[in-house]
Amino acid sequence: MKLNIALLAGDGIGPEVIDQAVKVSNAIAKKFNHEIAWTSALTGAAAIDAVGEPYPDETHAVCMAADAVLFGAIGHPRFDNDPTAKVRPEQGLLKMRKALGLYANVRPTFTFPSLIDNSPLKRERIEGTDLIILRELTGGIYFGERGRKDDGNTAFDTCTYTKEEVERLAKLGFEMALQRSKKLCCVDKANVLETSRLWRQTVQAMEKDYPEVTVSYEFVDAVAMRLVQWPSSYDVIITENLFGDILTDEASVISGSMGLMPSSSIGVHTSLFEPIHGSYPQAAGKDIANPLATVLSAAMMFEDAFGLKEEAQAIRDVVNKSLAEGVVTEDLAGKNKAYKTSEVGDWLAANL
Ligand code: IPM
Ligand code: MN
Repeated sequence: MKLNIALLAGDGIGPEVIDQAVKVSNAIAKKFNHEIAWTSALTGAAAIDAVGEPYPDETHAVCMAADAVLFGAIGHPRFDNDPTAKVRPEQGLLKMRKALGLYANVRPTFTFPSLIDNSPLKRERIEGTDLIILRELTGGIYFGERGRKDDGNTAFDTCTYTKEEVERLAKLGFEMALQRSKKLCCVDKANVLETSRLWRQTVQAMEKDYPEVTVSYEFVDAVAMRLVQWPSSYDVIITENLFGDILTDEASVISGSMGLMPSSSIGVHTSLFEPIHGSYPQAAGKDIANPLATVLSAAMMFEDAFGLKEEAQAIRDVVNKSLAEGVVTEDLAGKNKAYKTSEVGDWLAANL
């Protein structure tokens, strides 16, 4: 099979972790007789430096022409400390999500048997956790009108949702639940927010089309608590953009390292695969960042974008093997030898 993949390495550790995913993908392609055509393009601070724009038109054209997009990370500290910056790397990410219609962000959380004790949470709490947070990605407060009032001292951000936006996300949630344990949890703040009441009403109206799925409705504050108390009680969670952003960072703690969790974003035009961690600028260029989340994102890409299940499973298996044999970066090494980012990538590619 010929696979056309757009490669957006982005900022910080992005290029380093992407390199490892490319190594592993190329090795898989060789093993299973596929041909991958990679096309690299600029995003984030790297793109601002080069062309003054975090998601340039050329990059968009590359993504539109590809069958899938593999993405590293975006963000640079020099913008974080400058509230007056006119262009920010993150704007590129949001523009890309909107332009590619990436409306559903799939963020799984699961545990690795060999890493259970790496999590700050007790083993008996997290064992058996296997949940998916389905985050709406192109609406809500991220994309609402925002600004300052004339006095300069009053700021506002607005959150808007339409029934159609909720429906298309919820539909994916119901379908995923059907494939799994048939439990769906809709997370909102319907005791306060009007958009949340629209979410709840819309999902309630869809229940009759999925009689096999048991739906629960929970408030986001309570879920934030229960997610670390009894994560294994959840299966598929659907929620709006900002709540999903916060809950998925929280959920990543369960797995023991932010450097492990992959994600996919399902889009109208194409789909995108990326680690859930950020650009981790402190580690950039040091060859120490954990590449596994990006490698596992590549596995998701093989399975979800190309329907290549066996290839995806081979990648997951070799990742598990590296964890079991301690071929890991410093975030997971503990007192044992820490491998470099590039060494982990080489080992994975060689051991497929
Ligand atoms: C994420 C990130 C982004 C988000 C930032 C970088 C804009 O935190 O992908 O979760 O908030 O969506
Ligand atoms: Mn986030």
